[in-house]
Amino acid sequence: MGYVKLVFFMIFPFLCQLSLSFCSSLSPLCPKDQALALLQFKHMFTISPYASAHCEFSHPKTLSWNKSINCCSWDGVYCDETTGHVIELNLNCSKLQGKFQANSSLFQLSNLKRLDLSYNDFSGSLISPKFGEFSSLIHLDLSGSDFTGLIPVEISHLSKLQVLSIQSYPDGLRFKPHNFELLLKNLTQLRELYFYGVNISSTIPLNFSSYLTALQLPLTQLYGVLPKRVFHLSNLESLALLDIPQLTVRFPTTKWNSSASLQMLRLYKVNATGRIRESFGHLTSLRNLSIVSCNLSGSIPKPLWNLTNIEELNLDCNHLEGPISDLFRFGKLSRLSLGNNNLDGQLEFLSFNRSLTQLQFLYFSFNSLTGPIPSNVSGMQNLQSLSLSSNHLNGTIPSWIFSLPSLTGLELSDNHFSGNIQEFKSKTLDTVSLKQNQLQGPIPKSLLNQRDLYSLLLSHNNLSGQIASTICNLNILQVLDLGSNNLEGTIPLCLGEMSGLWVLDLSNNSLSGTINTTFSIGNKLGVIKFDGNKLEGKVPQSLINCPFLEVLDLGNNELSDTFPKWLGALPELQILNLRSNKFFGPIKVSRTDNLFAQIRVIDLSSNGFSGHLPVSLFKKFESMKITSENSGTREYVGDTGLYYYTISLIVTTKGLDLELPRVLTTEIIINLSRNKLEGHIPSIIGDLIGLRTLNLSHNRLEGDIPASLHQLSVLESLDLSSNKISGEIPQQLVSLTSLEVLNLSHNHLVGCIPKGKQFDTFENTSYQGNDELRGLPLSKDCGSDDGVPQGLGQGEEGDSSMVSWQAVLMGYGCGLVIGLSIIYIMLSTQYPVWFSRMDVELEHKILTRIKRHKKRY
Ligand SMILES: *[C@@H]1O[C@H](CO)[C@@H](O)[C@H](O)[C@H]1NC(C)=O
Ligand SMILES: *[C@@H]1O[C@H](CO)[C@@H](O)[C@H](O)[C@H]1NC(C)=O
Ligand SMILES: *[C@@H]1O[C@H](CO)[C@@H](O)[C@H](O)[C@H]1NC(C)=O
Ligand SMILES: *[C@@H]1O[C@H](CO)[C@@H](O)[C@H](O)[C@H]1NC(C)=O
Ligand SMILES: *[C@@H]1O[C@H](CO)[C@@H](O)[C@H](O)[C@H]1NC(C)=O
Ligand SMILES: *[C@@H]1O[C@H](CO)[C@@H](O)[C@H](O)[C@H]1NC(C)=O
Ligand SMILES: *[C@@H]1O[C@H](CO)[C@@H](O)[C@H](O)[C@H]1NC(C)=O
Ligand SMILES: *[C@@H]1O[C@H](CO)[C@@H](O)[C@H](O)[C@H]1NC(C)=O
Ligand SMILES: *[C@@H]1O[C@H](CO)[C@@H](O)[C@H](O)[C@H]1NC(C)=O
Ligand SMILES: *[C@@H]1O[C@H](CO)[C@@H](O)[C@H](O)[C@H]1NC(C)=O
Ligand SMILES: *[C@@H]1O[C@H](CO)[C@@H](O)[C@H](O)[C@H]1NC(C)=O
Repeated sequence: MGYVKLVFFMIFPFLCQLSLSFCSSLSPLCPKDQALALLQFKHMFTISPYASAHCEFSHPKTLSWNKSINCCSWDGVYCDETTGHVIELNLNCSKLQGKFQANSSLFQLSNLKRLDLSYNDFSGSLISPKFGEFSSLIHLDLSGSDFTGLIPVEISHLSKLQVLSIQSYPDGLRFKPHNFELLLKNLTQLRELYFYGVNISSTIPLNFSSYLTALQLPLTQLYGVLPKRVFHLSNLESLALLDIPQLTVRFPTTKWNSSASLQMLRLYKVNATGRIRESFGHLTSLRNLSIVSCNLSGSIPKPLWNLTNIEELNLDCNHLEGPISDLFRFGKLSRLSLGNNNLDGQLEFLSFNRSLTQLQFLYFSFNSLTGPIPSNVSGMQNLQSLSLSSNHLNGTIPSWIFSLPSLTGLELSDNHFSGNIQEFKSKTLDTVSLKQNQLQGPIPKSLLNQRDLYSLLLSHNNLSGQIASTICNLNILQVLDLGSNNLEGTIPLCLGEMSGLWVLDLSNNSLSGTINTTFSIGNKLGVIKFDGNKLEGKVPQSLINCPFLEVLDLGNNELSDTFPKWLGALPELQILNLRSNKFFGPIKVSRTDNLFAQIRVIDLSSNGFSGHLPVSLFKKFESMKITSENSGTREYVGDTGLYYYTISLIVTTKGLDLELPRVLTTEIIINLSRNKLEGHIPSIIGDLIGLRTLNLSHNRLEGDIPASLHQLSVLESLDLSSNKISGEIPQQLVSLTSLEVLNLSHNHLVGCIPKGKQFDTFENTSYQGNDELRGLPLSKDCGSDDGVPQGLGQGEEGDSSMVSWQAVLMGYGCGLVIGLSIIYIMLSTQYPVWFSRMDVELEHKILTRIKRHKKRY
């Protein structure tokens, strides 16, 4: 009926144009006062092109309102055919902007049955209590029009209301406690209730309209238990409860009364625990079933596979276990998502399945699936997105995947796939992630011809060959991660011209030659990782054109250049890694400019830098002059959460070379070790109070340890070993209570080792090779006169290797936890560097206890 009427009103204006007399004879006459009220209402607002920005179609309906024309024929206005009273006003998406007055003339239209004011811009307006005076109202829609404040209790006077829709920005609108309950109790005719983003902060009453067909309450801060009655409403068609973590949902164990009618059941981030009941098998009308609560458990019950009308099934992020089977009944399925569960077993069911012809989206990532992807799969020709990342799948990637004609997204990362990447038939790929497998061979040409590709992650495989310069044809590419492969040849010159690129990671390959790439003005690069290659020559000057660059990692190459102090002008640069190259000359910056203000990690170690420590540079490190203690939330450098790309970094801290899978913004590191630096340690370093790691070891430094270092209150690792530092260890350093690892070995220190706090935990390896140093833990007694040096730290040279490392850890309860987590990080990143290093370098053996467990991701 409603539809017929609507169509009629839609063609009505055309009829009017055809024949004016036809029109006036049909149209009821609008009462003058109501026309006037509408015109007054119209003049309260301006027409703004942005006021209905959320609408697909918007039209300023009130513009055509003209007092010399019968108001019943105005756009959006509908009258009763006998009385002529305005009974319906539909101004959705009408570009209205302005304050909605509490005394608006609209409230004079007391006969209104339908009122739709959705998707305009009334921002700052309250919902007037006078809405409660529309006693005939059946349908009220105030969604998306930026009303704010309390929803007046008077809304519950609208006892004839059948449809009520109110959407707001989260926390824009709210109920007084219990007013929502009152509303539901009083609106006994209600069919459809849509509240989005309204702060309801209440329970759902047990008694509400039994006519409900739609109940959608996302982001409403409801709490308590969802009444069982909801599931037994015999007309219920859609139930959507999203982002309401305090709302507990328990599914009925018996047949639901809504089972024949229910078409959509979407629960997302609510407190739904327990199993998916067999009773779900009765929901035969269901087309969309999404329960993403992260709390369900058990296996997927057989009866679920009876739901043959299902089009979208999403049980992501639960603890579901067992194999996936019997999907063959789902002939209408277009989206299937079972990711982030504990599902195991193999994917063989795909191979004898010929009914998934409608499937467009398949997401099984983050499970424990094993075995190969079956090779004889047919019938999934409509598949657009396939995600099987982070499982234990192996074998080759079968050719049917590469032949899918409309594939847009392929995510198979973090499995054990081997063999070559074949040429893709699809020309519509937008994201491809095959990283962390054992794939080999060249990067297929067809991948470099994808106009829509914005994310390409192929890192941590065994890919070989060169990087073709046609890669620069991917002109909307944002993330290019080809790291940790066996790619060789040179870096394509054109890469610096890709205007959308944010991440360029070519690290840990065998790339050679000079970096001739010219980074063009206007590029958006935030991350450049070329570390771990065989690159020679100089740091390209055009990097100065990268105003958004946060991470520049050129470590472990053969670059030969002076200190690129001009990089200091990059306003966002946070991580600069030049370690293990052939840089030379003094580290100097000019005194005047505001340089390196954002830098948090600077690693210039293992180069040929000479001269004094760069006092003028330390003065510039503004970001290091604040301690940013973790305030609950972890932030990672350069972490946009873009397509699973995270910035890893090899750091030397606490005597270990670690690969951090992500870099916390609180990770503040200066590493100038293994150069030819000389002179004194400037006391200004004490101003860099955010420092967590300071490594100046293996240089030619002399003079005293500045007492100012005691200001580094969050310092965790201090390595000044293998220099020519003399004098006593400043007593003030005892106040460094965060210090976990101290290495002062192989210097010319004298006097007594300070006592107390962390200093009681360091072992003699922290001090060895300082002949005049005395006190605990060294066996040369401090203050005692006999001065007979006993066997210094006997045995510490003998048992290098893991055994001693573990032994050290065992001695300190929670130390083991961190030890294991380091091993875990290391294994999970397949980066066993420090193991081998530990064998080789004795002073890098674990020196002392690790106090705090800082989880890194
Ligand atoms: C209203 O309609 C009359 C007659 O059709 C026309 O002359 C007049 O310009 C219109 N006024 C507005 C504001 O559109
Ligand atoms: C506006 O209301 C009409 C009639 O109820 C409806 O068909 C249309 O979908 C609505 N438009 C929007 C954008 O909500
Ligand atoms: C509504 O109230 C405002 C002040 O809040 C006043 O300026 C305006 O004239 C009133 N309008 C009507 C129609 O009463
Ligand atoms: C509930 O609805 C009735 C009319 O059915 C009305 O008289 C009463 O005021 C309403 N109660 C509240 C609290 O709105
Ligand atoms: C929601 O409203 C309640 C009280 O009505 C308030 O305590 C709570 O802070 C509000 N929540 C948010 C997120 O604003
Ligand atoms: C719900 O409330 C209505 C009206 O107050 C009443 O007639 C009905 O019996 C109540 N139902 C339940 C289940 O409490
Ligand atoms: C289910 O519907 C039947 C028949 O209408 C009714 O007798 C029964 O009470 C309903 N069950 C629940 C739990 O509402
Ligand atoms: C979630 O549900 C469980 C079991 O029903 C209950 O024990 C727990 O208190 C609920 N949590 C919240 C936050 O309501
Ligand atoms: C599911 O289908 C099977 C086989 O068709 C049937 O035996 C079973 O009763 C059905 N289960 C439900 C709950 O409908
Ligand atoms: C794949 O893994 C399974 C165990 O899950 C193993 O039996 C099989 O040999 C593996 N196949 C290949 C090709 O590695
Ligand atoms: C880089 O440029 C230099 C000088 O222009 C040239 O000799 C060299 O071959 C170029 N290297 C690469 C990798 O293009």
